[in-house]
Amino acid sequence: MDDCCSASGAAPRRTGVGDERYDAVFDERFARRVARHYARRGLAAPERRIVAYLVDEVGVEGARVLEIGGGVGELQLALLERGAASTVNLELSAAYEKTAHRLLAEAGVAGRVTRTVGVDIAEHPNAVGPADIVVLHRVVCCYPDAERLLSAAADLATSALVFSHPPRSVMSRAAAGWVNLVMRLLGRGYRGFVHSPDAMVGVVSAHGLHASYRHQDRVWCIVGARR
Ligand SMILES: C[S@@+](CC[C@H](N)C(=O)[O-])C[C@H]1O[C@@H](n2cnc3c(N)ncnc32)[C@H](O)[C@@H]1O
Repeated sequence: MDDCCSASGAAPRRTGVGDERYDAVFDERFARRVARHYARRGLAAPERRIVAYLVDEVGVEGARVLEIGGGVGELQLALLERGAASTVNLELSAAYEKTAHRLLAEAGVAGRVTRTVGVDIAEHPNAVGPADIVVLHRVVCCYPDAERLLSAAADLATSALVFSHPPRSVMSRAAAGWVNLVMRLLGRGYRGFVHSPDAMVGVVSAHGLHASYRHQDRVWCIVGARR
């Protein structure tokens, strides 16, 4: 295990160890459910949209991809299949690893994927090297400080950054409030967030990316930004 402290005094980085806030919610059952869905039906609509944007508008041939909060890694499998050279997955939950490694072995791409658990890139922005493409799918809404997370992600993206987020609607805020109430009652530390979409786009713009693609949806909106 690699333990180190950041110069900023942020929490120690404990590589290989999950964060209990995320381990408890995004557990092995969640990982198996996502993998089962992927095996039966392939990518869901928002993931297909992300892949289409990256393949058609950015280009993935030979690309190095960094996915932050990539779960079992099904998006990465799709990008590798379409010509990406390699991927790095950062996760705060340790519960995906068994399922993810099974999927990688089945797809025959284990040698092109690096999976790291326990590194919060928002707190340790230099923990991994840059990538051509950085992806955060269904992640910003699970993290309290979207500005810090997207700033770190944008700085690592040499070509493009794509992220998804829930719309900021009465429904989504009510849903997040309900989830957070349940989490509080269960004594869990996980919280969901409905960050301002325009503020998030403002963050990536401030880091030199142009958000040229915005898909609005009732569940997962997608922002694609190019350098
Ligand atoms: C709703 S899950 C989505 C997982 C996967 N992207 C998917 O769509 O199936 C959100 C994930 O984001 C991860 N996460 C949240 N903040 C993170 C961060 N700063 N770094 C890495 N992973 C993070 C959590 O551990 C969790 O697994």
